[in-house]
This record gives sequence, C-alpha cells and structure tokens, in this order.
Amino acid sequence: MGPFEGRSISVVRDLSIDEQLYLYQKTREIKTGLKQGGEVEQYRIKDLDLAVYLMFLEDSTRTKESFRNAARFHRVTVIGFDAGSSSFNKNESLTDTVKMLVGYNQRTVFVLRTTLEGVTRHLESYIGEYARQNGIWVPSFINAGDGRHEHPTQEFLDQYTFLEHLDWRRDSIHLALVGDLFHGRTVHSKVEGLRIYDHVKVDLIAPPDLEMPAQYVEKMNTLGYTVRHFKSIDDYLKTSDKARLWYFTRLQLERMGDKIRDRELDLRKAVTLVPAHAGLLPEGTKLFHPLPQNRLYPEIPEELASTPLNGWDTQSQNGFYTRIALLGMVSGKLGSDFEGKAREQASYEPDFIHEVEIKNISRKEDFKTGIKLLSDGTVIDHIGIGLSIPEIWRLIDLIRRKLDLDYRSSHGVFDNSSASHVKGIISIPGDFSLTDRQIKMLAALSPGCTVNSIRSNRVIRKIRLGVPPRIYNFSEAVCRNENCISRSNWREPVKAEFYRSRDRDTFVCKYCDREHRYREIWESL
Ligand code: CP
Repeated sequence: MGPFEGRSISVVRDLSIDEQLYLYQKTREIKTGLKQGGEVEQYRIKDLDLAVYLMFLEDSTRTKESFRNAARFHRVTVIGFDAGSSSFNKNESLTDTVKMLVGYNQRTVFVLRTTLEGVTRHLESYIGEYARQNGIWVPSFINAGDGRHEHPTQEFLDQYTFLEHLDWRRDSIHLALVGDLFHGRTVHSKVEGLRIYDHVKVDLIAPPDLEMPAQYVEKMNTLGYTVRHFKSIDDYLKTSDKARLWYFTRLQLERMGDKIRDRELDLRKAVTLVPAHAGLLPEGTKLFHPLPQNRLYPEIPEELASTPLNGWDTQSQNGFYTRIALLGMVSGKLGSDFEGKAREQASYEPDFIHEVEIKNISRKEDFKTGIKLLSDGTVIDHIGIGLSIPEIWRLIDLIRRKLDLDYRSSHGVFDNSSASHVKGIISIPGDFSLTDRQIKMLAALSPGCTVNSIRSNRVIRKIRLGVPPRIYNFSEAVCRNENCISRSNWREPVKAEFYRSRDRDTFVCKYCDREHRYREIWESL
C-alpha cells in the first residue's frame, strides 16, 4: 500500500508541497513515456475491480474527459454516473446515493463536480466511516470543482504546466491572474498551489465586482507573496513590471446576481485581451486559461491561438497526464518511492483551558448584585464579554440549554467590576462541577468566560476558557456560505464544523473553507 492509497483530494493542501512535487515528477515521467513511446506499463493500475466513478453534477468537458481517459490508461473500470436520470429526481440525497454506489465495486475512486461546496470533504468523513464499519475498501473522493470553492486537480495541471514552462525552476514565479477572480475557483486554488515556489509575485487584474475575495488575498499576504491589484488589462499594461505568465479565468455569469450581470459588457471589457494588446505584452509572454472560453466573448481572441502566446492548449492536454498520476497515487499504484514530508495532520489539543491564579481577596469584594454568595458551588463569570445586553441574555439561555444546566441556580447580566462593559453570570450552588464536555461547549459558546469552583467559602480553582480549536456538534452553529454542504436546507447529513485558523483570528468551515469571525458562526445570538 502506497502512502497515498485511499486519500481524498478536496483542496490543494490535501497534498503536502513534497507530495505535490512528487505528483509533478510522476506526471513528467508518464508524459515523457507516452510522448516518446517509452515504457509506461509500470505506471498502470491494471485492475478491473477498481472503479473510477465520474459523478459530474455540473457540466464539464476537460475535467470529465481527461479523468475518463486517464482511467482508461490505467485499465480500470470507468463508470459515468448519469445524474439526469438518477433518483436525484426523487429527491434522494447525494450521501445516500454514494453510500449505495460504494458497495458496487471492490474499490472505488469517486470524481465529483458539484455546485455545492465541500461535498468531497463531507463524503470522505461520512462514507469513509460507513465503509470502515462495513468492511468496504475506503474510497477516495476527488474534488473536480465545487461551486466557487476549489478545483485542486486543475491547480495541479496548472502548476505542472508552469513548471514545464519555467524549465522546472522553482526559485520564483511572477503571474498575472485576470478575469472573474471572485467566482473563479481555479484562481482560488492558486493561493495554495503557488507555495511550491520560493518567491511569488501575483498581479490581480479584475474590476471591483470581480475582485479576489479578501480571505484569499489575506492568505497570499500571510504566505509572503507580493500582491498587486489592477482594475483592468488596460491599467495593467501601463505598468513597467508586467508578468510573462498570464492566467485568465472566464466570467461565471451563472454564479452572479442580476445587478452584476447588468454590467456584463463593461466587466468583460476590463478583462478581455484584444489583438491590439498583443504588441504591448512582454517578450516571451504565455497565456493560460483553464477553459472553456465563451465563443461569443472569448477572454483571449481566437487570432492568438496560432501564435507563441498560446500556452492554454498544452495546459489542457496536461490535465490528462496529471490525472493519470493522481489516480495512480490514490489507488496505491504509485507512491512507494515517495520520499519527503507528508501532509501535516491538524492536531486539536485542548489548549483553551487556562488556570488563573487565585488571589486571596475577600469573597465579599466579588459579590455580584442579585447573585447569592455561594459557600459551595460553581460560578461561570464573564459570559459574553463584548456583546450587547440582549445578546448576553440569549447567550445565557443557549449555555443553559446546551450544557443542560437544569439545577437550582441563578443567573443575570451585570456590570463588570470596571463597569466598562457588561457580562453574564451563572451561579450554581452545591457539590457541582462541569464535565469536560460541558467545558468544551462553554468554551465554544463563550470564550473568555471564567469558571470558579468554590468550596467552604473559598475559590479553590479558577479557569479562563480561551477560544477552542474546533467547534462542532452544535445545531446553532451555521456556515454563512449558502452553498456549503453543511447548510441544513440541503438536507444532507452534515453538521457545521469549524476550525480555528492557526495564523488568523478566524474560524474556517471544515467543508467549504469559508472564514468566519467568531460571532458569525452563531445563528441564534
Ligand atoms: N477547466 C475545466 O474545469 O474545464 P471543464 O469545465 O470543461 O471541465
């Protein structure tokens, strides 16, 4: 079993940088072998018990057909799922559909394109668990494009193409990204894909309605990329330091609101190359495009297809070779010679419980108006710091319900001792302590609060709860992305789950990667 067997690829970072470089190396060997009539038998899976299931619930030519042909190269079973005549029409969920399909073959690799975001991440957990419980080979799920989230296999073929063009040098890259940077999932995947280079300079060319979402720009800044912004190609061509690699992405009208669509022609003009621009491009420029181009409004004029500017035809052919290598890896055929750093598994250590030094102060000084002083019990203090009074009341109610605090007790909203803000307090008398599970929930609901344990009129332990590393199992927590698979209206068995970002003060949806400020997660506050 190779190190990649059974792995799912939902986003680019599901392969570490070394693993991505391994993919590019294998792609190079396979492409060279096929192009030059060399020996390629050692790369083939050759196992009809392995099925590659193509589930394209959104249109595709290149991705679907290159995966189909890559699977044929491998001499495995290739199955095209016909969504249009399936029981989706009887409202069957995607989860139930895949749960059934996974039992039809010895081993399965699912390649999915969906309008919903985060689907493959969900299936990896849910169907993976189901398969393990039922003695089925744990399937791989490959994201072939999900909404406007990511398109990792396009990113792999794009980076492979850039590397070929750069003669495999990875010291630096200067790339212009042009077009619908807001909706274009292929440009979002660039943020991670470009990490294989030592120095990255990215010029973003898009009018304000189509500009790259802030979370991706901030991520590029965090990664140390140099990022510049331009509103149109005309603007960009005035600068002296232009990129030689240009990557276009089409206007995704199907994902836009009516207001933006009304300005379609102006938006197109800003990001469409015209023949007159060609003479203003730096020498050696190559143009790339994930395709398709709209034949009525091509971003790159047809006249340029037969010029040395054309990098996009080689790029789309490379999809075939990179997908051969990727299928080889997740099937376990390739990988035994991998030497490098594997993908880091996130760890979620409970680093959010901080002991607070207990000061020897009179309990009377701590007395809160309206709360009976406890001789024994637990006081949850500083609830909802920073929230308004109505929000704190709702939070107290939520805490009581989620932690099942059905005891004789009292609660209220009070001035903090400094009186600079208000806070909630819940006071529970008796021989009572919060369980670990309750503490985790409390940290998720009200980070910053303290839990005071009082015995015989003395505070014997005080802890302050920080922001927890993971928020899950709360029906009140909701991803703000309406296209996220975790939204309850999609009726798939998924609950929202968030991870605290390592480098930024945000919570990231496990499924669609949407970043949230802490308060945004909670629908009911
Ligand atoms: N680049 C790309 O994803 O093309 P298709 O939509 O044709 O698959």
